[in-house]
Amino acid sequence: MPQSYDDEGDGPAVFLLHGYPFNRSMWREQIDFLSADGFRAIAPDLIGISDKLQLVADSIEHETLRQRQAEAYRTIRTMESMARDVSALMDDLKIDQAVICGLSMGAYVAFEFVHLFPTRVRALVLAGARAQGPDEDEKQSREQQAHRILTEGMGLVAGAMLPKLLAPRTLAEKPNVVSRVREMILRTDPRGAAAAQRGMAARRDYSNDLTDIDAPTLIIAGRQDAVRKAEDAEFIRRGLGNSRLEIIDDAGHLMNMEQPEVFNRLLLSFIGEAEPHR
Ligand code: MLT
Repeated sequence: MPQSYDDEGDGPAVFLLHGYPFNRSMWREQIDFLSADGFRAIAPDLIGISDKLQLVADSIEHETLRQRQAEAYRTIRTMESMARDVSALMDDLKIDQAVICGLSMGAYVAFEFVHLFPTRVRALVLAGARAQGPDEDEKQSREQQAHRILTEGMGLVAGAMLPKLLAPRTLAEKPNVVSRVREMILRTDPRGAAAAQRGMAARRDYSNDLTDIDAPTLIIAGRQDAVRKAEDAEFIRRGLGNSRLEIIDDAGHLMNMEQPEVFNRLLLSFIGEAEPHR
């Protein structure tokens, strides 16, 4: 079960599943908004936050360090294990059913969750999502990333990913969002990030699951998302009978942080339809 989570508000439950390599703080605007509007917003950390910015600390004795690195190299955090953790958290919080909202890696987890626990899903929200599984190139590149993260730390991820994660307008006009995203990446434990990369490399192809999903689904895409193509969202919409697609302007991959008002409005109107008796 996730050790850290936010749980705010009263009402129908909405689980918010973060992307890679972030943490639950990426949902701050949604937690505030939903909890003020009659919902219970629950956001777990799925990867693990570190107060150390580097795996390799000089103070760690050499042999211990080698052992820790060896363990880290073997570790994998599968999408299934994350989905099972979310279900265990629901059990613990005595919640039977919830809206499951996942962004990017969180959407992989949402796909896995609805596959494993279909009756626990009241409705689905998939943001910055992709259903197709990884090809050989993607698997290799994720393994290389995992290796580099463990040897070089999260700084390299922040440098390489930041420009791709946010729309040009966000990068130019919203320095607070840029620094929050950088901070989130740097605070992620490199071992957790590497394990999640391996988990994403080992994920299933969710395309074949689409026709089995009955839950009403909202798909959200950022128009300037450089990580996910528009076709990825279209593909999911075509595969899911009970779904609709919304595209947010001036938003990249982290659309919920870049355009929180628009994202929240879409979320609320969709969840309001799924929870008419609230
Ligand atoms: C994410 O934002 O979760 C990642 O971009 C997911 C991925 O690498 O596929």
